[in-house]
Amino acid sequence: MDIFKTLRKDHDKQRDLLDKLVNTSGDTKRRKETFESLKRELEVHADAEERYFYKPLIDSDKTQDKARHGIAEHHEIDELLEELEQTEFSSPAWLKIAKDLKERVEHHLDEEEHQVFQMAGKVLSASQKESLSKKYQTYMENRK
Ligand SMILES: [Fe+2]
Ligand SMILES: [Fe+2]
Repeated sequence: MDIFKTLRKDHDKQRDLLDKLVNTSGDTKRRKETFESLKRELEVHADAEERYFYKPLIDSDKTQDKARHGIAEHHEIDELLEELEQTEFSSPAWLKIAKDLKERVEHHLDEEEHQVFQMAGKVLSASQKESLSKKYQTYMENRK
């Protein structure tokens, strides 16, 4: 499996969790649990992706800007997660922020899959695509 398929698989997990999250209500166990799973998933993924995908892209002139942009978006997503964590789970504002988060993450995933993957496809060698995928997966398993 190459790095693109591997990342895409985890992106789909995030999409599922985001759909679930905006369909929760009030101060419920389901909302809390879904939020915790999503937060963990987003944080560990961003960390592993920066190490085993963006780092080699920063080393290449062709993909450096795009990689920096992707990493900046990770920070914006982090901030929204923090905002959500500090908001009363039962307040109407919570769902509004959750929807903002969903939109922001979906935009980020689409941009990675449609723009960054294409550029990275030209910069990374076939063996890099395989080895980065393995490293990413090992790192994810150890962080979970
Ligand atoms: Fe990302
Ligand atoms: Fe990603």
